[in-house]
Parts: sequence; C-alpha cells; structure tokens
Amino acid sequence: MKDRPHVAPFDPERLRAEFPALGIEVHGKPLVYLDNAATTQKPRAVLDRIVRYYEQENANVHRGVHALSQIATEAYEGARARIASFLGASGPDEIVFTRGTTESINLVAHGFARSVLGPGDEIVITHLEHHSNIVPWQLAAEATGAVVRVVPIDEDGTVDFDAYLDLLGSRTRIVSVSHVSNSLGTVNPVERFVRAAHEHGIPVLVDGAQAVAHAPVDVRALDVDYYCLSGHKMFGPTGIGALYGKAEALDRLPPWQGGGDMIASVSFAGTTYAAPPLRFEAGTPHIEGAVGLAAAIDFLGAVDRDAAAAHEAELVRYAHERLASIPGIRFIGTSPHKTAVVSFLVGSLHPYDVGTLVDRFGVAVRTGHHCTEPVMARYGIPGTVRASFALYNTKADVDALVEAVDRARRLLS
Ligand code: ALA
Repeated sequence: MKDRPHVAPFDPERLRAEFPALGIEVHGKPLVYLDNAATTQKPRAVLDRIVRYYEQENANVHRGVHALSQIATEAYEGARARIASFLGASGPDEIVFTRGTTESINLVAHGFARSVLGPGDEIVITHLEHHSNIVPWQLAAEATGAVVRVVPIDEDGTVDFDAYLDLLGSRTRIVSVSHVSNSLGTVNPVERFVRAAHEHGIPVLVDGAQAVAHAPVDVRALDVDYYCLSGHKMFGPTGIGALYGKAEALDRLPPWQGGGDMIASVSFAGTTYAAPPLRFEAGTPHIEGAVGLAAAIDFLGAVDRDAAAAHEAELVRYAHERLASIPGIRFIGTSPHKTAVVSFLVGSLHPYDVGTLVDRFGVAVRTGHHCTEPVMARYGIPGTVRASFALYNTKADVDALVEAVDRARRLLS
C-alpha cells in the first residue's frame, strides 16, 4: 500500500485545473458543471492511470503465471486494498468489486432472497431511497413473500427516526438506507440507524453512493454490515464500484453469478465456491475500472477532506441564499443536515423547461425525478431542477447558475 500522499492546502481553483472536462465549452459557453450527483468529472491522474494500465500492464488477472498477468493482478488486488483502507475496512477481503452501488445492493438483496427471507419477513427502507435501493428489495420480496416497510420523511426531507424505531421488530431481516439522499441532499444519521437496528440483531446496508465524495467514511466506526459505493461518483471511472461487507456479513451470502474465478472446484458431480470476495466476482473483472478507482482514491487522499467538506457546505448555503432572490423559487429538501445538493422549482415552470434553457447558457443541472419517484410523489411534484456540487465547484459556478435560472424564468414566464 502506498504512503499517504502529501495533503496540499485546499484550493478549488487548483483542483479544477486537474479536470480537463471542466475547461470545455458547451453551446459556445464555458461549462458550469453542476450535475455531480449524477456523475463527477475525472482528474488527469485517473485518466493517465487508465492509459498506463492499457499501455503497460494489460493482462487478465488471477489466471496467468506470466509477468504481465501478475502485474495486472497486483494492480487489481492493490486497488481492492486501497478501497479497504479508504473505507476503514478490516482488510481487502471485505471488499467486493461490482459495477457500482446498484449492483452492490442487488447482490445483497439477491443473497437475502436466497438465504434469509421468507414469507412475512420485513425489509425496512426509507421514503428517501433511490430506485436502486427500492426495486432490488421489491424483487426480493416478490420472490420470497417478504414485505418492504417504508420509513416516512418529514416535510423538510428528514427521515422520521421515531417511525423508524417503530418499524423495527422481530420480523425485520435487514435495514437498507441511504447515507445521503441523491435528490434532496439529506444526510441520514446512519450511525443511529445502525445502533438501533443492531439492538434487535438486524443487519444494516448503507447506500453510500452520494456520501463518499463529500466526507470521509469509516465503515467500522459506523459499524455498518454492508456499505455500497460507485466509482464514477467519486472522480473514478464508470462501471466500477464496491460492496463492503463485514466478513461474516459477506460469508452469509450465497453466490449470485456463476462462472470463472468464483469457484473452489468444479465437477459435474457438484461445484464448490470460493470464499468472499471472489465468490461474488464471476468472470473477467473490470480491471481498468479498479485501477482507475484506486487512482481516484489517491486523488482524494491528497485533498484536505475537512476543508473540502466545509467548502461544499458553504456552496450549498450560498446557493440557497442567492437562489432565494428569484421570484417563485421553491426549495425541495431543506433538512438542516444536508450536503452538496440543491433541488428546487421555479413557480409553475416545468423543471425540464428550466433545465433545457439553463443548459443553453452553459450550466449543466439535472432535471426530473432523479430516480426517486416516491420522493417526488411525497411532495406532489413531477420533479425538480437539481444542482449538485463537488469539491471543484466555486461561488462563480453558483452565480452562473442563479443568473441562468433567472434568465430562464424571464424567458419562460
Ligand atoms: N443516481 C444518479 C443521480 O442522482 C444518477 O443523478
């Protein structure tokens, strides 16, 4: 494992220069990128690492005695170790490579459907969840006769913790909750969720897709049983992510895809399976993605994370303050505990219309339900305009957003 890189004083302008995509123009205007909850841009270090992998290290992993295969295997397994230390896991064997958070949740839900859930058992999620933390559990419930129970949210987008406590019971088999809401930015007090669930002996999965780029996460301090992340939302490549599981939490899951690399031995009489994490990694893995994700972790390791989090919190505060001056603005998601996301509507204007015009002025935001239809139904709205921030955004980006939204309002009104 590498030594911790030198942590430079936090400077978003210097960081921006490391991201080639932040220097491009769209519609003849400098790009103002405020769709980081959908995906982040990639620093040069990640791009260079992927090219170097293909130029100098490309071979299949775990399969060859030749030098290049060993180099590729070391790069791939080294990436697993980097993720383990990034999350504070006990060791690399607690990290499963997946395509991302969605696949990580599906893996666990599938395992629970096959080995834990039965008729009348309960799965507890919250009203804030992304579809990727709803649908896999609905599929598991359909297959087993289990029931999905949903913790409500308050008007400001905070999960009702007392209602959560009331839902935990002798039939609850798992709690699955987001760390940070992708559509509202609410930060859930996951350590409290975990403590309460563990008092009943219930394991907890945390969807960390929207959390890991914004604050350091320590899975052992949180005491979560499973934690999921996506590389592309933390400055790494698409198509790669991870499932952290405590050793015993991974061990209780049966295989979910069959193929090479996930077996101990195969015969026509019967097959035995590898121990985790390889039990869950059938087939040639996304090696390039893994090494790119490790480079993204190294990039984050060289950033003063506390200063970055304070910077993002100030951007969110400033965005609320400035957008509030636009006539008809309505914020959706105003929890006192939120990060990096500002969701809003402008009068009766449809979010798609606002988003489309704002884009013409060079500002990239996401519009729609953000894969959280139940959240939108809760507020009785079709969707929102969502600006989402990363550590390389600045107050000038917020100013550009406010100007673009106000121009869109005037043109559409
Ligand atoms: N889950 C991603 C988002 O919130 C795609 O935009």
